[in-house]
Amino acid sequence: MKHQENKQDKRRWRWTEGTVNTDEEHVQICYGGMPDSDWERLPKIVLLSPPQEKIFTVQFLLIPTGKKENDMIREVRRELDFFLLEKKEENPWAYARYHCGTAANFYSKVHWSFFPKGWKDSQQNNEKYTKKGEDKLSVHIVPAEKGDLKAILNLIKDFERYDVEFAKRYYDVYFKKDKITEKDKVFVAKLDGKTIGVSGFCRDYFSSDYSYWLGWFVVDKEYRGKNKFAVAKRLIERVEAELRKRKIRKLFVNTEDKNARAKSFYAKNQFRTEAVLRDYYYKGEDQLILSKVLIAR
Ligand SMILES: CC(C)(COP(=O)(O)OP(=O)(O)OC[C@H]1O[C@@H](n2cnc3c(N)ncnc32)[C@H](O)[C@@H]1OP(=O)(O)O)[C@@H](O)C(=O)NCCC(=O)NCCS
Repeated sequence: MKHQENKQDKRRWRWTEGTVNTDEEHVQICYGGMPDSDWERLPKIVLLSPPQEKIFTVQFLLIPTGKKENDMIREVRRELDFFLLEKKEENPWAYARYHCGTAANFYSKVHWSFFPKGWKDSQQNNEKYTKKGEDKLSVHIVPAEKGDLKAILNLIKDFERYDVEFAKRYYDVYFKKDKITEKDKVFVAKLDGKTIGVSGFCRDYFSSDYSYWLGWFVVDKEYRGKNKFAVAKRLIERVEAELRKRKIRKLFVNTEDKNARAKSFYAKNQFRTEAVLRDYYYKGEDQLILSKVLIAR
């Protein structure tokens, strides 16, 4: 037995071409764009499975039809070799997952994204490179535009109708591109042209330049808790990516203590409680202030 283990340890890590099961955890690598581009819209080059007996499976999605595609594939192959093999990490899969969240990945042209088990990646390549129509099945996170206002307010109304007036006041200023909100950003989640989620961040105007708060964060009821779409997760990831790009270290959010679903969501996304404001909304109705460290010191 001992002898067998030693033998296994000596095997080299490698990757081979094959089919990746996107129902299971996997990494998707896309190429191009600026750091703040919507990665969903970029050409997807490969899928990558966790290793089995030190062998990763790589599925190529992009059909090389010319120099441009060949160059993209070459760069992606180089990164696969580098991160999985040449870096000689003890656990290259854990490293690949870690790499997905690094600034280096964010600023690179080759973008690695991790998809947990249960995420059905229904769009295996974008419409430019493969079959048209598949794009409709996937959620895009895009900067909100004035035309989204009605849909945003409907989402908020459906969650907390008393918030709509405040929200309208805020978004009116935001969409007018007023100086006071120039550092804020609102994102919406779109599925087949429909706005199914909103999130964003706003600066603490009267405080420091570095204090940012999560803005209204609502996902259409129909799409809550659906791993297949992962709307909330994708919105928060987009918010965090944008803030990391701006070197913002911490994101704050306030929520009602009785909002169990939101609390679970924030907890599983590494938000921690900073403070409890007792009786903030009403007697016995507390507010929680949570925060997430985006860039460790
Ligand atoms: C908050 C919100 C954006 C999160 O999106 P979501 O799609 O519901 O998020 P997820 O399903 O990924 O995560 C919610 C978690 O809460 C859990 N949950 C659901 N109901 C719950 C309850 N009553 N008590 C405790 N946890 C609950 C879910 O099981 C899930 O955890 P899991 O993935 O480990 O199973 C969404 O629920 C929403 O729009 N809520 C209304 C608006 C809101 O409350 N916004 C936040 C205000 S600060």
